[in-house]
Amino acid sequence: MSILITGGTGYIGSHTCVDFIKKGLDVIILDNLSNSRAEVVDYIEQITGIRPKFYHTDLLDREGTKKVFDENDIESVIHFAGLKAVGESVLKPVEYYRNNIVGTLNLIDEMRAHNCFKIVFSSSATVYGKPKTVPIKEDFPLSTTNPYGTTKLFIERILEDLCVADDRFSVALLRYFNPIGAHESGLIGDDPNGIPNNLMPYITRVAKGVLPHLNVFGNDYETRDGTGVRDYIHVIDLAAGHYSALKCLEEKGVHIYNLGTGRGYSVLEIIEAFERVNNVKIPYIIAPRRAGDIAECYADPSKAAYELGWKAELGLDDMCRSAWKFEQLNTRK
Ligand SMILES: NC(=O)c1ccc[n+]([C@@H]2O[C@H](COP(=O)([O-])OP(=O)(O)OC[C@H]3O[C@@H](n4cnc5c(N)ncnc54)[C@H](O)[C@@H]3O)[C@@H](O)[C@H]2O)c1
Repeated sequence: MSILITGGTGYIGSHTCVDFIKKGLDVIILDNLSNSRAEVVDYIEQITGIRPKFYHTDLLDREGTKKVFDENDIESVIHFAGLKAVGESVLKPVEYYRNNIVGTLNLIDEMRAHNCFKIVFSSSATVYGKPKTVPIKEDFPLSTTNPYGTTKLFIERILEDLCVADDRFSVALLRYFNPIGAHESGLIGDDPNGIPNNLMPYITRVAKGVLPHLNVFGNDYETRDGTGVRDYIHVIDLAAGHYSALKCLEEKGVHIYNLGTGRGYSVLEIIEAFERVNNVKIPYIIAPRRAGDIAECYADPSKAAYELGWKAELGLDDMCRSAWKFEQLNTRK
């Protein structure tokens, strides 16, 4: 029996593949390479000694998706594939809804047709909208501030409705906070196309001289130093969270977990740590606040600790060191 990893050549997907292969699971990757590179499969092989089967397939391609299920005995799916840039989603909402939601519906159709009823879905802390308090618990009210977030919330609802209608399904909704860092080999990491939307890949490209400086969006928030505070989690810990989540799929129905550390760092604290650990300078300027940004966002991860026995272990220095190692080795053109 195999596990299908959609979006498996992407940032979090590739680290999850490595984690699963090392733990002895048989992994199959489906990815359309819209935001990742085929070489990632080589790197996964280099790290683990095992080459996962790879399908260069788009979830919008129904025939292609069906073929992946026809040719394999897939027991469960870890569903990472999706577009994830908040700003782009505001400019291209239809493309985001089609890719993320229709892609998921096609996936569910093939799962049902092939008697596969277990799915882990990559959701996001963005479904909490503007939380009134922190730390955020799973039962906080849900809302969204942009089309990307709305795709995450809709897909959560679709999977919940599916479980009500079909009691063979078990679903894990994992709400990630802010994954950063990379595998210790430096071979795989966060490598978005174009100008990065997230803080750490932006910082590493400034450190490398690819981008001139970092924009810090707002320094007048009600936080320790005025800059936004987020819950940064090492991607290695996040990947391991998926392995832990496989356990809860033994029980039918919907299971929801925050995957974060429970601790927030400000943008200036991240810059300071990156500079200190890697001995490089990150020039930055203070820019106006970005629409929709909130002051503080960090998880209460105790439910995952209690029910899954999962806890983030790695610290900020490790996140900064590994992210910089990945950037230095990266051969992106
Ligand atoms: N990175 C984060 O900060 C973060 C936070 C919360 C949630 N998430 C979610 O986690 C998942 C993985 O994120 P990531 O950071 O690894 O992103 P990523 O862009 O690196 O990986 C996503 C992968 O999905 C592929 N893909 C996109 N649309 C596809 C389609 N229609 N068919 C097949 N493949 C497709 C892309 O080529 C890419 O390799 C996404 O769903 C994202 O929304 C990410």
